[in-house]
Amino acid sequence: MFNLILFGPPGSGKGTQSEKLVAKYHLKHISTGDLLRSEISGKTSLGLEAKKYMDKGFLVPDEVVIGMINDALDSNPDVAGFLFDGFPRTAIQAEELDDLLAQKDTCIDVMLALDVSEEELIKRLVKRGQTSGRSDDSNEMVIKSRIGEYHKKTAAVADHYKKKKKVEMVKGEGTIEEIFARLTHEIDRLMKTDNCI
Ligand code: AP5
Ligand code: MG
Repeated sequence: MFNLILFGPPGSGKGTQSEKLVAKYHLKHISTGDLLRSEISGKTSLGLEAKKYMDKGFLVPDEVVIGMINDALDSNPDVAGFLFDGFPRTAIQAEELDDLLAQKDTCIDVMLALDVSEEELIKRLVKRGQTSGRSDDSNEMVIKSRIGEYHKKTAAVADHYKKKKKVEMVKGEGTIEEIFARLTHEIDRLMKTDNCI
């Protein structure tokens, strides 16, 4: 298997690049944000609970998200690998993910971390908010609160994988095609080696 985490702050292009990467490498895309939004549209109790946090730009509690990941891994036993987008987002989620993958005799091969300036993140999200209908894009206060959560809780996830020498920083500004080329360059190189020893 080849398992990768596409990491970065809100608006860094994780969703945009994930779509292109899963098409090229036939990986299973797991976006916890998309899974949560689909629970919200289905008006499930999990979705209604999660919405309270998401509308304010706060992270949803770890146990909710870890439960969803567990289900997603179990229901996709025969894939070439997973692309995690927006997960893990706390140190606890990272430890849980490593344990779940170890139980399946696999691991995270690499974390590709998109580096984008805060000014550019806000510009992208405010622009999307004009048309997306995503409640958490609708005002700059909530966008800033999402970026605040990233600094407070999520940046630690990069430290977790840095200790394992699994982090590659990738410049996340430029055209979508330029960024895609940077990402595929790293993946093509790493796919040739066994990263789970
Ligand atoms: P989630 O859905 O993961 O959102 P996010 O990380 O806040 O950010 P986005 O999805 O908005 O950004 P992205 O990096 O995917 O960028 P995109 O490609 O869309 O999470 C939402 C919420 O769910 C969280 O706040 C939290 O409450 C909850 N949640 C989710 N996972 C959780 C977890 N694990 N634990 C706890 N809570 C969790 O691009 C952004 C915009 O920029 C788009 O309009 C795009 O068209 C544009 N764009 C992309 N690339 C470029 C480029 N190169 N140049 C110019 N514009 C570009
Ligand atoms: Mg996204």
